[in-house]
Amino acid sequence: MGNHIITAALPYSNGELHLGHLRSTYLPPDIYVRFLRQLGDQAIYLCATDEHGTPILLSSEKAKQKPAEYVKQWRTRHLADLNSIGIKFDLFSHTHDPAHIELTQKMYEKIKVHTFRSPVQQYWCPDEDKPLPDRYVIGQCPFCQAEEQYGDTCESCGKAIPPGKLIDPSCKTCGAKATVKKKEHIFFRLSAFADRLASWISDELDTTQDIKNFALEWAKDLRDWDITRDIDWGVPIPDYDGVFYVWFDAPIGYMTTLRSWCEKTGEKFEDWWNPNSEIVHFIGKDIVYHHVLFWPAMLMAAGFALPTKVPVRGYLMLENKKLSKSRGRYLSIADWIQSGQDPEYLRFYLSFTTPLGMKDTDFSADEYHSVVNEGLVNNYGNLLQRILKFSERFDSAIPKAKLGPIFNDVREKKNGFEQLMSKGKLMAALKVATGAANDVNAYFQGAEPWKYEKTAPDTIKTAASCLKLITQMLAPFIPVRAEKAADLLNIELSWKDSEPLKSGHKLKNPKILFDHVSDSDVEKIKSVYGDS
Ligand code: 2FM
Ligand code: ZN
Repeated sequence: MGNHIITAALPYSNGELHLGHLRSTYLPPDIYVRFLRQLGDQAIYLCATDEHGTPILLSSEKAKQKPAEYVKQWRTRHLADLNSIGIKFDLFSHTHDPAHIELTQKMYEKIKVHTFRSPVQQYWCPDEDKPLPDRYVIGQCPFCQAEEQYGDTCESCGKAIPPGKLIDPSCKTCGAKATVKKKEHIFFRLSAFADRLASWISDELDTTQDIKNFALEWAKDLRDWDITRDIDWGVPIPDYDGVFYVWFDAPIGYMTTLRSWCEKTGEKFEDWWNPNSEIVHFIGKDIVYHHVLFWPAMLMAAGFALPTKVPVRGYLMLENKKLSKSRGRYLSIADWIQSGQDPEYLRFYLSFTTPLGMKDTDFSADEYHSVVNEGLVNNYGNLLQRILKFSERFDSAIPKAKLGPIFNDVREKKNGFEQLMSKGKLMAALKVATGAANDVNAYFQGAEPWKYEKTAPDTIKTAASCLKLITQMLAPFIPVRAEKAADLLNIELSWKDSEPLKSGHKLKNPKILFDHVSDSDVEKIKSVYGDS
């Protein structure tokens, strides 16, 4: 396998990131990249903020800030939040970067033969003499007559409102009665790629079957795609008075970030973005359409390698109800840290409960308490503590002894873990690791080395050797503690080393690395979102 380019969907520079974003989009790639590096592969983790589009422009106007200032604040905040959970990027860039603007315009030149111009109905403010994009116009829904609806979709009946069909449209900014004009827009011929997309999705793309089925359904009826917007915040279109639609420029951000990373490190872009590399886009299920249809079609049109894997994960519920920012049913990354909760325990819990595919799952503070305490603290944490403590009877060195057969079982599990991780099945892999810790705990308990002096050396050598492999497996999930545990066990975390510990191998004195999640932690978490 060649190099690995690992990306996470670019977060909008608009509003804070919550635990749902973390579990579907930002944590899994961090774990995957750490694992690839453990294997000794060349892998980079890239991300950037997504800074254009009408909603961001509107938010900046509301905040009475220039859009460029507004997005900059969120850019800094997102990176700090993600870093606070141990998520490390090789580069975290942004789409308002001049390099991105240049690359987007170049990309447009490359795909231009696949575009055409066609008039669309466009709302217009006569007082300000300017076009009114969807969010800048309000009026009555032509279907259900609900008042104060935006130009694109009715929030009351959920129907898409055809361009120009709002009843009594008015300009949202100045209140003037809006008119409707015809304006020429640029369309990308997405429909021309339907067959190629369908066979790529079926035969080549590595993703779960539910996502394939979902995308193939869409591929049957692909409409050409309007890539223009009449606002002045975004990437200017060189031969048109307007900017690119944010979903046209955003995915190009993956490439821009790679380019900038190459410039910084002296690597060559072509050595990375090519058909021999693994190109992986981690995303949430709401943006499958864009990553499995729009973006690959753009890449096909421009002649670039397509993504190899698109791992998708569903939404997070909070105590079995939908997250709602306005009602305070919400748990942001910042809330987690500010309430004094452990970032690595959160990594463990989210990884333990988040499958691949469309399925939504729940965050519950009580479940967090039991999953972390039972699955990690009382399990691996306890085993580590017991073995280091018990080895003091042997001067904290592995005694001359026989290796029990459980070591081979754990080594087999490590192989199984590797297979699952390579397929991106992180939850299943983590359960293999914690299952192995369970088995070794039971083995140690059953062997009763404190009672049977004769076999005690075998037990300690076997259990400590197993612990080495389990620590290697847990490392991508809880990197800080795994480093500390590796130091106590005096081992390397490199994947290649699956040998048992040799007689005479020195261990260090025990240190508590894993405190229990307490009842008061649970109360603190719940108090963030209350019972609302
Ligand atoms: O849905 C979102 O949050 C978008 N900002 C994701 C963009 S991903 C990529 F294509 F840039
Ligand atoms: Zn309606």
